[in-house]
Amino acid sequence: MQKSTYTSSRRKFIQNSALATASIPFLIQSPNAMAQMIGEQKSKSGPLQILILGGTSFLGPHQIAYALERGHKVTTFTRGKTKPTVHTELFDQVEQLIGDREDNLEALKGRSWDAVIDNSGRRVHWTKATSELLKDNVGIYAYTSTVSVFYPYYKSGATEAKDVVRSMPDQIEDESERRNYEYGIMKANSESEAIKSFGAERTIVVRPTFMTGPADRTDRFVYWSTQLSKGGDIVIPGREMDPVQFIDVRDIAEFMVRLIEEKTSGIFNGVGPASPMTIRAFVHGAHAAFNSPVNYIYMDDYDFLDKNEFSFQAPWVMDRPKYHGISRVDNSKAIEAGLTFRPLAQTINDTHEWWYSDAVSNERRQAYIENAQALHNRQERLINAWRKK
Ligand SMILES: NC(=O)c1ccc[n+]([C@@H]2O[C@H](COP(=O)([O-])OP(=O)(O)OC[C@H]3O[C@@H](n4cnc5c(N)ncnc54)[C@H](OP(=O)(O)O)[C@@H]3O)[C@@H](O)[C@H]2O)c1
Repeated sequence: MQKSTYTSSRRKFIQNSALATASIPFLIQSPNAMAQMIGEQKSKSGPLQILILGGTSFLGPHQIAYALERGHKVTTFTRGKTKPTVHTELFDQVEQLIGDREDNLEALKGRSWDAVIDNSGRRVHWTKATSELLKDNVGIYAYTSTVSVFYPYYKSGATEAKDVVRSMPDQIEDESERRNYEYGIMKANSESEAIKSFGAERTIVVRPTFMTGPADRTDRFVYWSTQLSKGGDIVIPGREMDPVQFIDVRDIAEFMVRLIEEKTSGIFNGVGPASPMTIRAFVHGAHAAFNSPVNYIYMDDYDFLDKNEFSFQAPWVMDRPKYHGISRVDNSKAIEAGLTFRPLAQTINDTHEWWYSDAVSNERRQAYIENAQALHNRQERLINAWRKK
């Protein structure tokens, strides 16, 4: 059901969002309601004690919802700064430990769990310290990594066996390129620290591509749900056959919990969709969530896109040598191990409901509306230039 229609008019937006926040609770996949509908989804492993490092941001609340639904007990470890915005009602069932991965792991000492999920691994020494501390008292270490370990993405079809980036090349002057390297290197070396401490047979590494869905802290995918629900001109960048990859955050969350239940160790590319999808198929598929009249504008000329500094609109990434493989990562091993995918229209619909629910603040929505760099604010100019071309 479509809840609300995005509009760039501030007055209308405030009216809409007031309506939305007054009348629409965050309804998506309430675990209790789901359990009643489809019967209790207890895991075959029996109840597990799961520690999540992090757990209150984007991926964590979905892992918690799924783990509780399957009868597990969850503990989180954070600084107590980031407040969950979805599944908030579940957090009184979660033991919440406070510390700091930089210099205070006291709350983890002398405790034992069946598994730990490391979502908040942002430094190599953080993962080294927690995996060393927990290796004798915890059964499995599940590290949330990223496909960025494959940066630069020169090759297509990267499997889990492909080499990952380990060190910074000399003479990287471009700041954003340096950050890409740093992130990939940090994640690749963190994976190795977990494996060093727990051994390959007790370590799970999942490498998600762009995650999307409720609670996303970025606004990367908001264009699609807001514009497609509203209708009108929709810009589709890229060549006709440019592939895209993305994954619903809940599919990653559930996959990780099931790997833990099944004690399936190994490295897995957490990438969707199930079979190759072009950017055009993505947009058409996303539009299936709505029934608005749309006018697609296919901006398929790379020179034009380059000239207009338009090389990225998640999940589409311009096919340049360093990015050639980013949307061509091999996910067959993960699918074999049980990674499943929600339908795209469901992801888009749920993201749309979430965006207009009280899980997102009016300030955030307003900042998005006013963001001059965001496509909805650039598209009129782009379309005019495209038509004149
Ligand atoms: N978003 C994507 O598209 C994407 C794609 C691929 C991979 N990933 C990976 O997915 C993982 C999960 O991402 P996410 O967005 O859910 O979480 P995140 O933003 O990476 O982590 C946030 C969590 O970590 C806690 N935290 C931060 N600093 C801490 C510290 N010094 N000590 C203890 N806890 C700390 C936060 O709570 P406090 O602030 O309260 O401490 C919060 O619970 C990340 O590892 C990310 O690299 C994401």
